[in-house]
Amino acid sequence: MNAEAALPGAPFLARDLPGEGGRLRLEGHALADLAQRFGTPLFVYSRGAMRSALAAYQDALRGRAHLVCYAMKANSSLAVLQTFAQAGCGFDIVSGGELARVQAAGGDLSKVVFSGVGKTRAEMAQALRAGVRCFNVESEPELDTLNAVALDLGLRAPVSLRVNPDVDAGTHPYISTGLKGNKFGIAHADALAAYRHAASLPGLRVVGIDCHIGSQITQTGPYLDALDRLLDLVEAVEAAGIAIHHVDVGGGLGITYTDEQPPAAGLLVAELLHRLDARGHGHRELLFEPGRSLVGNAGVLLTEVLVLKPGHVEDGGKNFCIVDAAMNDMVRPAMYQAWMGIEPCEQRACPATTWDVVGPVCESGDWLGHDRSLAVAPGDVLALLSAGAYGMTMSSNYNTRPRAAEVMLDGAQVHLIRERESVAALFANERLTA
Ligand code: LLP
Repeated sequence: MNAEAALPGAPFLARDLPGEGGRLRLEGHALADLAQRFGTPLFVYSRGAMRSALAAYQDALRGRAHLVCYAMKANSSLAVLQTFAQAGCGFDIVSGGELARVQAAGGDLSKVVFSGVGKTRAEMAQALRAGVRCFNVESEPELDTLNAVALDLGLRAPVSLRVNPDVDAGTHPYISTGLKGNKFGIAHADALAAYRHAASLPGLRVVGIDCHIGSQITQTGPYLDALDRLLDLVEAVEAAGIAIHHVDVGGGLGITYTDEQPPAAGLLVAELLHRLDARGHGHRELLFEPGRSLVGNAGVLLTEVLVLKPGHVEDGGKNFCIVDAAMNDMVRPAMYQAWMGIEPCEQRACPATTWDVVGPVCESGDWLGHDRSLAVAPGDVLALLSAGAYGMTMSSNYNTRPRAAEVMLDGAQVHLIRERESVAALFANERLTA
């Protein structure tokens, strides 16, 4: 097998041939050297991989009215946002904090869509003043609140209703969002009435319709089903005299962590455009909110092996490879039983053993990989692959562990984009009592 194709994140992630040292490289930079220079745990991203993932959507949408809004919950570090802003991308935000990040990164606020089931009045006002592109509204009460906030400010809020299309995205229950039993969106059966209500409120202006059916989706079928359900509604709403400009199909396209074979973004876009055309809606602006598929395979998490702790495997024990990254740095395995690739940054000649790769946090759920065959020794650096999405943004300070540093690679350049958090910063806001 071609060594590059075997690594998720190829061609930006590749391993030198064994005869040439077998070093793992991201965008040409040896990861072991970066670990040495910046310390571990360390997130390392390839700007080239991010740009290329975005271009896959943008190229397929060329010539059509469209906007790609990066779902920044996947990775909201300022330099990541800057990368997408410079490429003309908009942003899907879910909090006032995310809006502030877009502003700090120089993003275009007129390309921001504001999603989320529980926006506060303060967040609504902040986004209205900032002039965001639209609010993805998830309930009738939210329409009323937004209307009141907009009228108070003497503004009109552009709204798109997030409809729950009740389609099964076929993914993990925690990240499936478009089924009747999920908290998200307005039920399909209630949507027409909600549009009539929205159109009657003077502080609102209806601009679109949207949905988001889940995450790590590996087929195009659920998207096409959801689009059909949205277009049925668009037709009913427009027949009632309410114009709908854009259709937002959400995010959710999966990536390869192990053997998943999600459709390429270009294929997904082509199929959706084809369906829009076939149903006579080709003139509509199409919005996407991809998160994971823009950044997931553009990043790795580097971690050093602290201790090898062999167990009595013959008696049901386990061999533990204890590393300096933990569930507080990358919670996906603990939270979703997610499988993420683990690769040594330099290859050893010694035979491989089966290890559970675990962190130092005091929880049995603190693991990064079970039963991995690795040739390792203490001091070696391992790379947790596909760590660009939902790694840093979901990290915490559990066990009073400072959050990791982050590095952005851009061709020959290496940028430290986030300094390692200091322990002092962790309790700087705390006070002893008198
Ligand atoms: N739009 C909305 C309204 C969303 O809720 C999400 C993700 C996205 C877009 C982007 O979805 P993506 O393209 O990244 O799949 N922490 C989980 C994933 C949670 C996804 C939540 N919503 C994980 O690590 O797998």
